[in-house]
Amino acid sequence: MESIESILNDDFIGKTVTIHGWVYRIRSSGRITFIIIRDSTDIVQCVASSSLGERYNDISSLTVESSLEVTGQVSKDERAVTGYEIKISDFKIYQRNEFFPITKDKSDEFLLDNRHLWLRSREFTSILKIRSTVFKAFADFFYNNGYYQVQGPMMVSTATEGGATLFKLKFFDDDVYLTQSSQFYLETMIFSLEKVFTIAPSFRAEKSRTRRHLSEYWHAEGEAAWLHNDDMMNVEEKMIEYIVSEVLNKNEKDLKLINRDISKLERIKAPFPRIKYRDLINKSREFGMNLKYGDDLGADEEYNIMIHYEKPLFVTNYPEELKTFYHLPDPENPGEILCHDLLAPEGYGEIIGGGERIWRLDELLERMKKAGLPEEDYYWYIDLRRYGSVPHSGFGLGLDRLVNWICNLNNIRDAIPYPRTVRRIKP
Ligand code: 4AD
Ligand code: MG
Repeated sequence: MESIESILNDDFIGKTVTIHGWVYRIRSSGRITFIIIRDSTDIVQCVASSSLGERYNDISSLTVESSLEVTGQVSKDERAVTGYEIKISDFKIYQRNEFFPITKDKSDEFLLDNRHLWLRSREFTSILKIRSTVFKAFADFFYNNGYYQVQGPMMVSTATEGGATLFKLKFFDDDVYLTQSSQFYLETMIFSLEKVFTIAPSFRAEKSRTRRHLSEYWHAEGEAAWLHNDDMMNVEEKMIEYIVSEVLNKNEKDLKLINRDISKLERIKAPFPRIKYRDLINKSREFGMNLKYGDDLGADEEYNIMIHYEKPLFVTNYPEELKTFYHLPDPENPGEILCHDLLAPEGYGEIIGGGERIWRLDELLERMKKAGLPEEDYYWYIDLRRYGSVPHSGFGLGLDRLVNWICNLNNIRDAIPYPRTVRRIKP
């Protein structure tokens, strides 16, 4: 059995091959039928003619997405979609379909309800291949840099990113939450492993429907002892450069299929520009906005900024009030914290949130008190500041957002096979 991609070259001209897959398109004109067959690798035009005798009707009456195996001789044909054609001499039908429900002009809702079938589209196939490269490249980058892959729990008793977006569920007789971030658990592991990363789901009860929020998303997080905020950004920009270069190397065909402008991705080379939040606010008129110090940057603001950038942009030193309690205050700039968001270009906005963590006990307790957090719930997080505490930094990257940007999609739900949003929990 050959893969379709492997036979699409001149070496196979005149050879007889067997391929299997699904009917992608079928067009019959009486005594001759063109069937485009797809497998995971590509599509190829196959032709059946009445030379198949009595069996011709079986194959010429197939419908889209029926599964089959065909054997035939390969020839070059400029008119065929992928440049070659297979003249069918034998075939086996695995399943003859009823009418396939996905046709042109279906509504977004219909396609979302039928996601399990819509996934077979060529665009989605390419997006999923790119996604696969992104996940592997993220892990490879950190393995290559001496990090260990670890796992934290998904059912937790503490909030990392504030109570507003916590999903609560019953756990025997207790209430538990679905994790918003594995950060605190990664922090516990740097005291033995020093450099760790994880790829895990995170959950956010985001009530608003936006183009960049999922209720369940894939979170790639890293944490390292001894690194400061700037050091962490140095790691992250190389990581993003590596992931994008891997996609360019491995998924050129897929990027073309989804009409991605490859030249825009080729520009993604470290270092990335860095700007302090306060300088960005001062420049906000240049981006057509009138922001005040203390305003948060949401999707719209980030869009207005990032349509002006060709590379991702680090925004550092947010005011303390805009971020969660664990960020380290900047001793040189009172009221500011040593944190960073990485905003993706072409208007995409935030893909990473990270920074340096408070590592001294009294400072942490003070910030927790200010945030109104009960010490007893966070006893284990506080303990890390009691026994051999060290400076450390980390980050969280939304992998679905990264895929969304790399593929230049309109909506994050097209970057993940089964999106979970405030209004969607099936299929
Ligand atoms: O900025 P966030 O909330 O930061 C944290 O969770 C830190 N504890 C991470 C860390 O330092 N280890 O989330 C990190 C990233 C965001 O930049 C974004 O890419 C993604 O997670 N993200 C979401 N992606 C999809 N849907 C959502 N609802 C998301 N919320 C955050
Ligand atoms: Mg954030």
